[in-house]
This record gives sequence, C-alpha cells and structure tokens, in this order.
Amino acid sequence: MFLLVGALGAKEGAEVRVLAIADIQYADKAAKGTRFYRNSIPKLRKIREAVKDEKIDFLIHLGDVVDTKHANLAAPLAEARKFPYKQYFVMGNHDFEDTTENVEKIRRELGLKDPAYYSFDVKDWRFVCMDTNRLSSYFKPRNEALHALATTIQKDIKKARGNWGNSWNGGLDKTQLEWLDELLKKSETEGKKVVLFAHGQLRPVNSHICLNSDEITGLLSKYKCVKAWINGHNHKGGYAKEKGVHYLTISGLVETKNIVSYAILELYADRIEVIGRGQTPSRTLR
Ligand SMILES: [Fe+2]
Repeated sequence: MFLLVGALGAKEGAEVRVLAIADIQYADKAAKGTRFYRNSIPKLRKIREAVKDEKIDFLIHLGDVVDTKHANLAAPLAEARKFPYKQYFVMGNHDFEDTTENVEKIRRELGLKDPAYYSFDVKDWRFVCMDTNRLSSYFKPRNEALHALATTIQKDIKKARGNWGNSWNGGLDKTQLEWLDELLKKSETEGKKVVLFAHGQLRPVNSHICLNSDEITGLLSKYKCVKAWINGHNHKGGYAKEKGVHYLTISGLVETKNIVSYAILELYADRIEVIGRGQTPSRTLR
C-alpha cells in the first residue's frame, strides 16, 4: 500500500514548477487609466507572501519591468530579489523608453547579455527566452537595417488592414530566428520539451501580436518538442492553441488597483497546468 501511494505520488508530482510574472511596469508616477504603476511593488510583496510555501524552481519575468526610465528599475528589482529562487528576465517595449545608455543599463542590471536571447535546461525541459524587441522601431541601440525593416513591416500590415502594425510591437530578427531554428532542431534530437518565454504575443491574432508572428509560429509548429510560448505585453492576457503549440499570455501585474495577476506553471510529462491568479485564469494545456 505504501509503495502504491508512493508511486502515485511520484507520478502526480510536477517535473518543474515556474512562477511567471508579466508587466510589473513599475514607475514612480500616478495611476493612468487602469495602470497603477506604483502598486506593482506591494503586489510583488503579496505574490511573495502567497507563494512562500510553494516549491518553485525559478521565476520568469515576462518583460516591461519598468514603464519608463532606468531610474524606475531599482525599486522593482529590489523587491524581485527578495524571492528566494533563481530568476530570469526578458525585456519588453516599455523597458526601452529611455536613452540608449540607460536602456543598456536596464539590460545589464536584468542580467541580460547582448543579444538578450538565451536558453537553459531544467530536467528534460528546455526554456528558451526570446528577445521580441529586436525587430522593432523602438529597439536601442538602434540598428538601422532592423529599424527600417520593422517600419516597412508596420506599414505593410496597416496596408493589408491588419491591426498589429503598431509601434509598440516587435518581433524576432533573422539572426535570432536562425539561432532558434538550430536550437529547436537540437532539442528535438535530444528529446527535450521546449517552453519559450518572451514579452511579445504571437496568438491569438489581435493588436498586440509580433510584427512577424506568422513567421515565428510557422517555425515553432515545425517542431514537436515545442509545447508552449508564454508571454506578457497584452495586459488583458489571453490564450490560443495552433498546430499543437499553446500560446499563453499572462495578465499584466500593473493592471488594476488591487488585483494581483500572475501564474504558477506546473510542467508534467503530458501537460502544463496553469494555476492562474488575479486576472490570469487557470487552465490545462494538453
Ligand atoms: Fe506592459
């Protein structure tokens, strides 16, 4: 009997547990509309308190740690550092709203290299953190060719009456796509299960998706090892499944005065359980 319970227990346990927080978007300024910039600090404290007894392998921050300016980074970073786990960051569009020099400081203080895309493994899972800012009209330091390409794509989307050709959306540049293609090829051979983290959304199609989202989803759907793309950016949150890949948007922490949105992701061999809090609903990704 003991053995049976033990075996079931092992089967039921998640392989990896991840805490996901999107769009802290802290700024020392008054609330505007539904964005309560200063409240993100007490909200981070509330998350830390709520998950203190949970087993968490790492914390992923899904971009837009600040609303504007490097000067706003110290407060959320100090609060984030109180979480007792390994932490990973991706950058979001609002992290670029300062001088080139200060944006570089934000990148470095978030522990990101240049280029800011990378991967790491936990057990059989491979986590790939993408930089969906690189192909955009706001990226700094400015790359003239990528800036011109992003501007052209924005215009083409608008001409075709798409609603996502916006200055606040980015995408993956060719070099990054080639890096990802190679990594996914290798991950497939190695029998890894892949979850991608990014700021930019790919699906469902709406005004917040990446400029070249079709190109990216096309690449992801080539590989069976790809389980999910999990992002921030669209503060409302959202979900879609396309060609075997789950696309999950975690709701923005900065939204509302008091609602604290985040998720714990439980990764199992056959599924991902999203334990949603606040405006992020719970769901099973299978
Ligand atoms: Fe944001």
